[in-house]
Amino acid sequence: MNRTHYCNDVREQLLGQRVSLTGWVHRRRDHGGVIFVDLRDRTGMVQVVFSPEHEATVHRRAHELRSEFVVEISGVVAHRPKETENPNLPTGLVEVNVDRLEIFSASKPLPFQLDDDTVSEAVRLQYRYLDLRTPRMQKNLQFRHRANQIVRRILDETGFLEIETPMLTRSTPEGARDYLVPSRVNPGQFYALPQSPQLFKQLLMVSGYDRYFQIVRCFRDEDLRADRQPEFTQLDLEMSFVEADDVMQLTERVVSGLFRECLGVDIPSPIPRMTYAEAMSRYGLDAPDVRIPMELKDITDIMAQTGFKVFAEQARRDGSGRSRGMIKVLRVPGGGNRLSRKQIDDYTAFVSVYGAKGLAWIKVNGPWHQDGWQSPIVKFFSDTEKAAIQEVTGLEEGDLLFFGADSHKIVNESLGRLRVRLGRDLNMVEEKPFSLVWVTDFPLLDWDAEAKRPVSVHHPFTAPLMEDSSLLQSENMDDLLKVRSRAYDLVLNGIEVGGGSIRIHDTVLQKQILALLRIDEAEAGRKFGFLLQALEYGAPPHGGLALGMDRLMALMLGLESIRDVIAFPKTQKAGCALTQAPSEVEELQLRELYLRRVVRPKGEVN
Ligand code: AMO
Ligand code: AMP
Repeated sequence: MNRTHYCNDVREQLLGQRVSLTGWVHRRRDHGGVIFVDLRDRTGMVQVVFSPEHEATVHRRAHELRSEFVVEISGVVAHRPKETENPNLPTGLVEVNVDRLEIFSASKPLPFQLDDDTVSEAVRLQYRYLDLRTPRMQKNLQFRHRANQIVRRILDETGFLEIETPMLTRSTPEGARDYLVPSRVNPGQFYALPQSPQLFKQLLMVSGYDRYFQIVRCFRDEDLRADRQPEFTQLDLEMSFVEADDVMQLTERVVSGLFRECLGVDIPSPIPRMTYAEAMSRYGLDAPDVRIPMELKDITDIMAQTGFKVFAEQARRDGSGRSRGMIKVLRVPGGGNRLSRKQIDDYTAFVSVYGAKGLAWIKVNGPWHQDGWQSPIVKFFSDTEKAAIQEVTGLEEGDLLFFGADSHKIVNESLGRLRVRLGRDLNMVEEKPFSLVWVTDFPLLDWDAEAKRPVSVHHPFTAPLMEDSSLLQSENMDDLLKVRSRAYDLVLNGIEVGGGSIRIHDTVLQKQILALLRIDEAEAGRKFGFLLQALEYGAPPHGGLALGMDRLMALMLGLESIRDVIAFPKTQKAGCALTQAPSEVEELQLRELYLRRVVRPKGEVN
């Protein structure tokens, strides 16, 4: 084959030159004698012209061409006649006068027009190989390719080694369900696909590799959302002899390199940092979108004596002076004028998804002392309470206040999500395409109410903050839950794009943490005994992080769904619309794997 150029390379510099191009017939137009074809390859499109004047036989054959036929053409580059120039196409000033045509293959009519943007995602995923022909997907995947190369170059220059770790392995404790793979040669035994290379990268540090990275597939069997896939890709890295600061700085170097080289955007350096406690207090979420100019205010103390029962109940203090729950308020600037009763009802339904039992509100039509507050609850408030609410929120006429009263978890989550939702609905998100923030000092432990035991917020190998180590000795669960960790997340536009921590490199401390997590020695030995053992043979202090590449790519490209940056993604039901995976398997395969199908009665789960 004689291709000399890609379609998009055919520009004015080539005027008068012969070129050979290959590609797909994007569109064919028959203009009474002259046939115009938009020829497309992965770089773009160029118009090629078949005219009886150039080459009569070739022109005759061009009548056979239909959309998506695959061809090679040769011809001479010429100016398009003035009025036929296409300013929307990079190659729009020129065309190729074809004198040679080879048809490599025909195509059936497509199930959908590639440029029809009303086609459902289900159909596009079923014919993903066609969808991948669109400029949209080509741009996304080429962008991702470029990003991978930049990451590799920067990390190589910084002394990192790219090392592969196993896919058939043991369960890694990242908190999701495992995908299991039965072993034929070990009857009744299973591998787990890695939820992350966490344990292996720590072992590599024990082995002295000092700086490791990998662009690696991870597998998690969890409920899917627009930003979650059952298999996804991490840029995973680990470093020895470092503090959290070093890992964050290194990450900033990679991320700012990506933004600069892929988008020509300079991100702030250093990336601002905020503690977890501050994020929760101001935004109610550990991945705050700081572009939305609204914050939550805690009014639990102000409501200590209130006559509104729902609030009083949460503000009430126990013997140790701690309130039962909390009350927070969200001021929506101008919301009083902009939100109808119906919308308030919709937002009430929205927060109920996060467990909120109601969504009290006040419309500020005028000063409270002139009965300017319109609300179903304001009659319960004393003047002192009203004055205090006024002061804490800094409210102005025309505003709307939303209140949440419940456990810390429910109040923060429901008002935190409501804040984001309102920010979008009311167009309040600051015009700033990329807003990055580190969230640091995450709690080490969280209380799992169902299992009635503490669980790791990050994972069990995360080191506690030195200053909190005395709390670790406490018998009191409330104290233990206050212990902070050396864990950090990178948040982009309110979405967690990365997370990591400094690890425990000391076996005594590691065993102590496992004991707190009520993982006894036998269980610890079974699950990750090899890591605990490795820590006893000279483990350097180490830490690392993983960036979710799918999320990062989608956000950099301004896309809603990570499916748009993955060549062959799974659907919401964790299936592949193209290959129809997962699928039933032959009885023989099951037998070889010592598996038997159990058909459960309809409706019964697990
Ligand atoms: P973590 O579990 O926070 O950390 O994962 C790191 C990043 O991976 C992305 N991510 C996902 N992306 C798409 N689909 C998913 N199902 C999914 N789950 C996670 C997120 C997340 O920030 N071993 C640790 C890292 C470390 O401590 O070094 C880990 O895996 O963007
Ligand atoms: P009620 O007294 O239950 O009729 O509620 C009065 C107002 O308070 C309504 O607007 C409810 O939505 C709201 N409300 C009820 N429970 C809560 C709660 N736990 N947090 C915030 N608002 C609530």
